[in-house]
Amino acid sequence: MLRNKVVVVTGGAGVIGRCLVRGIAQKGGIAVAADIDLDAANRLANEIGQDDPGRVVAAQLDITSKDSICSLISDLRQRYGRIDAIVNNAYPRNKNYGRKLEAVTYADFCENVDMHLGGYFLVAQQFCLAFKEMGGGNVVNMSSIYGTMAPRFEVYDGTPMTMPVEYAAIKSAVIQLTRYFAQYFKGDGIRVNCLSPGGILADQPADFLTAYNDHCASKGMLAPQDVLGSLLFLLSDESRYITGQNLLVDDGFSL
Ligand SMILES: NC(=O)c1ccc[n+]([C@@H]2O[C@H](COP(=O)([O-])OP(=O)(O)OC[C@H]3O[C@@H](n4cnc5c(N)ncnc54)[C@H](O)[C@@H]3O)[C@@H](O)[C@H]2O)c1
Repeated sequence: MLRNKVVVVTGGAGVIGRCLVRGIAQKGGIAVAADIDLDAANRLANEIGQDDPGRVVAAQLDITSKDSICSLISDLRQRYGRIDAIVNNAYPRNKNYGRKLEAVTYADFCENVDMHLGGYFLVAQQFCLAFKEMGGGNVVNMSSIYGTMAPRFEVYDGTPMTMPVEYAAIKSAVIQLTRYFAQYFKGDGIRVNCLSPGGILADQPADFLTAYNDHCASKGMLAPQDVLGSLLFLLSDESRYITGQNLLVDDGFSL
């Protein structure tokens, strides 16, 4: 499905990123796990390399640094002669991220939007400019159901969790940036799409899981593997005429 396509996954060592990197390698692609945490990316590359040698490469990347992005692009172009796709999937946040609205300061709001939305913009900008030079490319941006719908605050009742206000601003903007970039680079062989997963299961409190799962069709909170097929589809030629779209994978939570 992705035979020898060179695909960069930012935040490639994270919960969803690891699954995407493994899936890309299994489909015959070359997955670049690009993460600010190089040790974690190296561990992943070694682990997958035992089954699938040469299919996963670890790289250090800070999505908030233009120099870091440009040096990754130039290293990969030297090594492989081309890059086929970029998945904007990193999840930068500062130490105060995740507070309730009343406790969010202006500085924290701006810093989180800067790093996450600003970083996604910078990655998409630099990769699209490189793709244009190379004659084409493919961008997939990770948004979330909470970029598309009003938060369901009641599912967090009785837990310390909330749906952060910065997340609403960031993820809704990622969907609109997707349309902007898709339109801007439409004549250049560059496709830009968005994937919006529902919540991913990771040790959340039982009360939250019950309340969340009540809104879903069958499974409720998903595993990273549950969004993998949609991502591989968007990266593959099976979706070659799809651009500027947002694909929701949420087991019906947002309905
Ligand atoms: N987990 C969920 O429930 C969920 C649901 C919907 C959407 N998403 C989205 O999926 C994406 C991945 O989420 P996740 O849960 O796997 O996150 P995660 O926290 O598990 O992983 C994020 C990775 O990004 C890396 N990172 C942080 N700052 C970086 C930077 N400046 N440059 C490069 N890498 C950096 C981290 O080291 C980490 O490996 C995010 O866009 C997130 O918003 C997650």
